[in-house]
Amino acid sequence: MEAIRADRGKIAFLDQRKLPLETTYVECHDCQSVASAIKEMVVRGAPAIGAAAAYGMALAAASLMHLDGELFLAGLAEAAHGLKATRPTAVNLSWAVERMLSVARTQAGREPRQVADMLWEEAERIAAEDIAINKKIGDSGAKLLPQEVRILTHCNAGALATVGYGTALGVIRSAVAAGKKVIVFAGETRPYLQGARLTAWELMQDNIPVTLIADNMAGYLMQKGAVDAVLVGADRIAANGDVANKIGTYSLAVLARAHGLPFYVAAPLSTFDLTIASGDDIPIEERAAAELTEIAGVRIAPENVAVYNPAFDVTPAAYITAIITEAGVIAEPTPEKIKRLFTVHGHE
Ligand code: MRU
Repeated sequence: MEAIRADRGKIAFLDQRKLPLETTYVECHDCQSVASAIKEMVVRGAPAIGAAAAYGMALAAASLMHLDGELFLAGLAEAAHGLKATRPTAVNLSWAVERMLSVARTQAGREPRQVADMLWEEAERIAAEDIAINKKIGDSGAKLLPQEVRILTHCNAGALATVGYGTALGVIRSAVAAGKKVIVFAGETRPYLQGARLTAWELMQDNIPVTLIADNMAGYLMQKGAVDAVLVGADRIAANGDVANKIGTYSLAVLARAHGLPFYVAAPLSTFDLTIASGDDIPIEERAAAELTEIAGVRIAPENVAVYNPAFDVTPAAYITAIITEAGVIAEPTPEKIKRLFTVHGHE
């Protein structure tokens, strides 16, 4: 199963709106259709939308390469703007778009046709790096887990949310590969049901034991001693270690603290936003009311009921046992520890 398939000049996304009932791909041949695919959740998950946007930039470059240098760059800047506007919370999206723009700008002396080729290669590099990074995250995260462990995860931070392997689910894959006995509880993740539709499906594809629960069952399971650790992904991490992730993550962190359980976040360095001091400044996407008032197109709430649908929440750093990155594990994150990690490793 690949969330993203790229072949020079065209890109296809596994349609995550239709999983697990149908496995079909949506093909995109231009930047606008990539932007729509991101906005409409055909492709979702922070690293996956970053890589998708990088390919979107490469497709934009291909469609602009008949223009002269200045107009070519102006067109790319416009494409970048359109892609960044699709989803505001996951910073991987603007990270990838900026990386693509900076390649275009530093190569501005070349023929646009050549730059367009280089941008496609850069998108391929971003995609390949993502898989390698996730494997590193997986391997260092797996070491934190005991030989037998019952993990509660939220949303989908797996192969479907990345170019491959996954972040939180990558840690689980690495732990299983290392011979650990892992049982996963997947919270269904209302309202969009990424846990029920995607995580449960993805883990079952790999024969990793998974039990689906409704989100409001987490506290009961912890109270019964049925969970050993909580492990999630992230959409944006502020300079102080506050983590934005799928709505409901914060509640799990508070519950984990109340029950003395470790709360782990697995994320690449491209998910950090060091320009933001704390989680207070992370923009939180609000989504359509229909995600709450309907299930699979069937209305379940009164007509015209007022609805509030924030898609993400922020877990304060104080609730986080460790952030697992490709450059190492940050235990009990603080601004200093994060700064140190970036000083040593950094990212483009
Ligand atoms: O709205 P989504 O499905 O894009 O939200 C995804 C999440 O919240 C994931 O946990 C996060 O992006 C990390 S994915 C490796």
